[in-house]
Amino acid sequence: MAIMIAVMFVLFTVGIVFQAEAANFTCPTAIFSFGDSLTDTGNYASAFPAPPYIKFHSSYEKAVSSGRLPYRACNGRLLIDFTAQAFKFPFLDGYFKDIDPNYQHGVNFATSSSTARNTSEASPFFLSTQISQLIKFKNDALSSSDSNLPATEAFSTGLYWISIGLNDFLRAFAYSGLSLDQINVTLVPQVAQFISNAVRDLYNYAGARNFIVLNVPAVGCLPSVVSSLGTGAANSTDSFGCLHALNEVVQSYNSLLKTSLQQINQVISDATITYADYYGVHRESLSNPQIYGFQSNATLLACCEDGAHYSGPAAHCSSTATTCTNPSGYISWDGIHFTEAFNKVVATKFLEGTFIDRAINLKTTCSLDFSQF
Ligand SMILES: *[C@@H]1O[C@H](CO)[C@@H](O)[C@H](O)[C@H]1NC(C)=O
Ligand SMILES: *[C@@H]1O[C@H](CO)[C@@H](O)[C@H](O)[C@H]1NC(C)=O
Ligand SMILES: *[C@@H]1O[C@H](CO)[C@@H](O)[C@H](O)[C@H]1NC(C)=O
Ligand SMILES: *[C@@H]1O[C@H](CO)[C@@H](O)[C@H](O)[C@H]1NC(C)=O
Ligand SMILES: *[C@@H]1O[C@H](CO)[C@@H](O)[C@H](O)[C@H]1NC(C)=O
Repeated sequence: MAIMIAVMFVLFTVGIVFQAEAANFTCPTAIFSFGDSLTDTGNYASAFPAPPYIKFHSSYEKAVSSGRLPYRACNGRLLIDFTAQAFKFPFLDGYFKDIDPNYQHGVNFATSSSTARNTSEASPFFLSTQISQLIKFKNDALSSSDSNLPATEAFSTGLYWISIGLNDFLRAFAYSGLSLDQINVTLVPQVAQFISNAVRDLYNYAGARNFIVLNVPAVGCLPSVVSSLGTGAANSTDSFGCLHALNEVVQSYNSLLKTSLQQINQVISDATITYADYYGVHRESLSNPQIYGFQSNATLLACCEDGAHYSGPAAHCSSTATTCTNPSGYISWDGIHFTEAFNKVVATKFLEGTFIDRAINLKTTCSLDFSQF
């Protein structure tokens, strides 16, 4: 009883939002991650090694040819890579990795182009498919004696990382023909519903108890979006030069996502569901670029670009693209995806317990190691 009071007192003083579940928090020994190209560490390249892989994912081509960490739409480490390093895990291997995968500390199901909704318009590996892959993986792992697999309890104590939705909005803004009002009324609740369903399914069918769910970054501030969609109803820009109307829709989604997660957490109250404000870190970096080492004249520019960004919101880092001399001064790598420098800022914020709605400082709670950052 005395311990209970002490625990509650601590929780109360740090202003925790989801009190009940935080009491049961266990530091994860594995990460299971779901998402799109912001998190993909090789799945798309393994699933589609021939064109259209090269055609649609020219960022990878450039990364491979320059000897960087391969098969990522980035000049280096992704947010999930920094996170794995902080936990002293190896970089998470993809579910589709062909050679010598090591899944002891988790699996990455994230695949480029994927959407949160059940739609194969861009990738067959939408969120619900990725969850089916995890369930199959778990069943196979539990009946295997392979030592390169997560321990049984890792499926319940593991960190389930969900970062998806950007493609749902990018495609809607660029190709659906729907007005922003229509997108706000139809797509916003759908995407939030698919994410809550994903959390529920992982809880019910995989025994997941510890989640971190990222919201969608400021789509209206991505350089390729600003240059290709900054016309007509979407053209009005805010003080950062971002497309205000697109960001309003994304913010409506983000606040609905937050509410939906709180609601589902009332139903599955022994789960820890953390909402992480990717959008907030993105805006913070645009507001105070110098603090993070970003050039204030390059916040809306891509480091790697081929000059063709008016045809649609796409990555512009093909083999013929020019790369800036100071990537760490840029937020955007290729017009859509972020630089390693920005990913490091986001990882640091989240793991230190800021821009998340739960006052758990994973860095101190789980003795995370930022020395490789
Ligand atoms: C679509 O998603 C839901 C979960 O949100 C899932 O139950 C359903 O099986 C999915 N349908 C297909 C065709 O994958
Ligand atoms: C933005 O679009 C509106 C029409 O939708 C137009 O009246 C306005 O001049 C445009 N503004 C700019 C800066 O292009
Ligand atoms: C989106 O719709 C909600 C109500 O469903 C409304 O509160 C919000 O202001 C709308 N957002 C935009 C950007 O139109
Ligand atoms: C904490 O976890 C244990 C074991 O996993 C479980 O039996 C218990 O119900 C959980 N407690 C709460 C408050 O969720
Ligand atoms: C931005 O400013 C830096 C100095 O902070 C300068 O070196 C660079 O050339 C400028 N870049 C552009 C695109 O103007």
